Amino acid sequence: MFERGSRIIRDPKVFDYDYVPPKLIGRDEQLKAMELLFRPLAEYGRSCTAVLMGPVGTGKTAAAKCFCRELAEHCSKEGSPIEVVFVNCRARNSEAAVLLHMVQHFDRGFPDRGFSPDQMWRALRQQISGEGKDIVIVLDEVDILLKKNSMDLVYQISRFTEGGPDIGRSVSLVMISQEPLFDLLDEASFSSFRRANSVVFDKYDMPELREIVLQRANAGILPGRIGEEPIDMIADSASEYGDARMAIELLDRAANMAESEGADEIDAEHVRGAKAMIYSTVSESKLKTLDRSRMLALLAVSRAIRKQPSISITSAEKTYAVVCEEYGETPRKHTQFWTYIQDIEKLGVIKTAVVNEASGRTTRISLPGVPSKVLAEKVESLLEKASE
Ligand SMILES: Nc1ncnc2c1ncn2[C@@H]1O[C@H](COP(=O)(O)OP(=O)(O)OP(=O)(O)O)[C@@H](O)[C@H]1O
Ligand SMILES: [Mg+2]
Repeated sequence: MFERGSRIIRDPKVFDYDYVPPKLIGRDEQLKAMELLFRPLAEYGRSCTAVLMGPVGTGKTAAAKCFCRELAEHCSKEGSPIEVVFVNCRARNSEAAVLLHMVQHFDRGFPDRGFSPDQMWRALRQQISGEGKDIVIVLDEVDILLKKNSMDLVYQISRFTEGGPDIGRSVSLVMISQEPLFDLLDEASFSSFRRANSVVFDKYDMPELREIVLQRANAGILPGRIGEEPIDMIADSASEYGDARMAIELLDRAANMAESEGADEIDAEHVRGAKAMIYSTVSESKLKTLDRSRMLALLAVSRAIRKQPSISITSAEKTYAVVCEEYGETPRKHTQFWTYIQDIEKLGVIKTAVVNEASGRTTRISLPGVPSKVLAEKVESLLEKASE
């Protein structure tokens, strides 16, 4: 145990979930936009608001952290330090939990239980006015809260941002969301959130992802342990989603695989292995969106296809009848099965193509990205979990 030092990984912390690199790749425009929106705070201590929007893994959280870090440095140099309160709304997914987190930011000893929201709001107000600093509240993944109709929290905070005699200092708010927030907010109540305050984060393209992987490899991997090719492969795989988190996770897993094999460097096969592992988590979150009927159809496809490159819809349907019997369901008619197959294709798990065969035109189903056995096992376990 522990007999040998690392051969591949220099610093595993670089791959941690909350690691923020010293410089972000390709996000100058967004950081500049945030700087403009927050100029009133930096210069006059006035409250500001910003909404950061964009798909998964596009650097919203990282950019908010980077920006707040620099803003805090700037403000303290100017002699008017700020206090940043960062809340992840997914981790604390009720209004009361978010509120409690904010109160506990100022008072670690504040009890977890026993206070009503009203009392907590009062406490927060007092804490903010007693803090003697301008405050920046960041509500990360706020869409999750808003989708549960939890508007009130955002509304209450936006009343803070509008000031009032008992607050004394300015309160600024940054909201981060994967979805356009304005669809989720009732605009009349949020006059302070103008569309002009949005900062949009687009998916990363392949060259940007390559840079991001390279930056992380330089920080986290020992010199000479990863070549150009695996870096390109990783960037290429993640570019389908434009997701930097996926790229970094691939690098991390490939590095760990190479490390545990005792390899001298990370090669293409390690990246393939990492992809297979990630695919199973990506697809799991996709698969969970399927209902029971569609899961059964998918299970039939994955059992019928085995080692063949593709199967006809007819043979999938035969297996489907067997699968339904096994799970105590009545198989649906052909047209219904066909719509199930189309729905599953929309998720990107299977592919269909119409081909001419001796017997006429038929639809063939293939499974491009995942071993059929892995998929069948995954669907079986999801079906089991769902029936628990
Ligand atoms: N421009 C970038 N340069 C370097 N690293 C980046 C960049 N953008 C994102 N990353 C890294 O990619 C990972 C994912 O980024 P981040 O968590 O900021 O995404 P996000 O947009 O908040 O995603 P989600 O919507 O899922 O919360 C993090 O490890 C982050 O440090
Ligand atoms: Mg995020």
